[in-house]
Order: sequence, then C-alpha cells, then structure tokens
Amino acid sequence: MSTYKEVKKVTTHTLHEMKQRGEKISMLTAYDYSMAKIFDAAKIDVLLVGDSASNVMHGHETTLPITLDEMISHAAGVIRAVDRALVVVDLPFGSYQGNSKEALNSAIRIMKEAEAHAVKLEGGEEVVESIKRILIAGIPVMGHLGLTPQSIYKFGTYEVRAKEEAEADKLIRDAKLLEEAGCFALVLEKIPSKLAKQVAQIIQIPVIGIGAGSEVDGQVLVSHDMLGINKDFSPKFLRRYLNLYDEIKLAVERYVEDVKKQDFPNEKEQY
Ligand code: KIV
Repeated sequence: MSTYKEVKKVTTHTLHEMKQRGEKISMLTAYDYSMAKIFDAAKIDVLLVGDSASNVMHGHETTLPITLDEMISHAAGVIRAVDRALVVVDLPFGSYQGNSKEALNSAIRIMKEAEAHAVKLEGGEEVVESIKRILIAGIPVMGHLGLTPQSIYKFGTYEVRAKEEAEADKLIRDAKLLEEAGCFALVLEKIPSKLAKQVAQIIQIPVIGIGAGSEVDGQVLVSHDMLGINKDFSPKFLRRYLNLYDEIKLAVERYVEDVKKQDFPNEKEQY
C-alpha cells in the first residue's frame, strides 16, 4: 500500500473560493529555498518573491536596483522548495514600464526560467495594457496599489497613501480596472483601513493587505520584518513574531567564543 499523500496545491482558483467563503488568505515574502521550505511546511497560502529582496537580500535602500535576472534566481530557489503554496513573483522596476511587449517578455522569462505560478506588478491605469497582454499569454497577474515602492521617488515618502479623496477615488477606479482586466488578486499597501474595506467589498477578486487593516481578504508581510531579522524597520502595521536578529547574533557569539577557547569541536564532533 502506498503511503504517498498528494498535497492539495493552492491555485488562483483556491484564493477566489477562499474569498467567497470568507476564509482569510495568508501570504509572506520568500526569497530562497530554505526559508520557502519552512513557510510551505507551515501551510502558508501564497509566497511572494517580492522585489523587497532588493532591500532585505541585497542591501539596497529602495526596490529599484534589483534586476530581472536576480528576481528569477530568487524565484527559482523558492519554487524548488514548494509543494503547496502559490508562488507569485514581482516584476522588478524597469522590466515592464517601457511597453506591453517588454512587460510580456519579462513575465514570460519569470514563468519559463523560474517556473513561477504568477507575476505581480505595481500600478493601475498606466499598466493595464501590459497586464492584459500578459494575461492573454496565460500568465496570472496580481495587481498592487496604494503605496507602490517602485514609485518612491515620485511619492517622496513611505507615508500612508490615498488619505485624500482624489487619490482614494483614483485607487477605487484602478482597482475596478485591474479586476476588469483579469487580475486574480490585488495587494493594497499602506492605505486607510476604511478605504481598503471598501475596495474589498466592491471587487470580487481577493484583496490582500499590508498596512491596510483587517477588513480585507488576506494579509501579507515581509518575512524578514515579521521574523525580526530586520530590527530597524518598525512601522505601526508590523507584528513581530520572533526576534531572529538577537537570536542569531547570540548563537554566532557563542560559536565564536567556543572556537576561540577551543571548546568546538569536542571529542564527539571529530573523526
Ligand atoms: O516586494 C514586496 O515585498 C511586496 C510586498 C510588500 C507586498 O511587494
């Protein structure tokens, strides 16, 4: 008798069903094989290979410098680790803004070279043509509105977006456009919770929030932030589940000490 148990994979369709029955969607960023394996075992629904890799993996100040090649390399590691989660990969800055053909080519590279399940890109009306072209090729697209970090030099700050009526109205229009275009889900970043709730009620596709309150269809956090690897970033919306920075530092300090005093390796730890 076989003990093989087939894992039920999360698909874009699963996320729609979850919204319909009111089950919240859990999403975290992942950038490498080992972490992705743990997150998948913990039954995360969606893993986002976010362009926040530019900050937390490469040490850049913004998400702008990371390249398509680098994103593909991170995504390939994550995909190899995952049995269950849906893996969405960010199109990095400069890989889709030029025109819809460039956007399609970048999305195809991510799907072909990393074997990802879907792509995400930032923006509303300005990128709808590109989204449609990617979707025609059969590639699922997740939208991203509100604070869109690739536009940080236009915004000037990482403050809450869409507090004023005009920007809130545009965000609602954009959300409807992205749904009509065929996006399977939408990330809303750092906007008032009342507005996020309104969007989640107006559109049928799942809305996943980060700093967008509790009345949306799911939540996403940057894994390095929620695990406390990154100590310097403490926005109001962040809940820290671990203080890995301190724990890892302590472990490494103990290791250094053991090596210095020749306590490691001991008799049992050698051949
Ligand atoms: O790149 C990223 O980590 C993201 C999340 C903040 C949604 O886009």
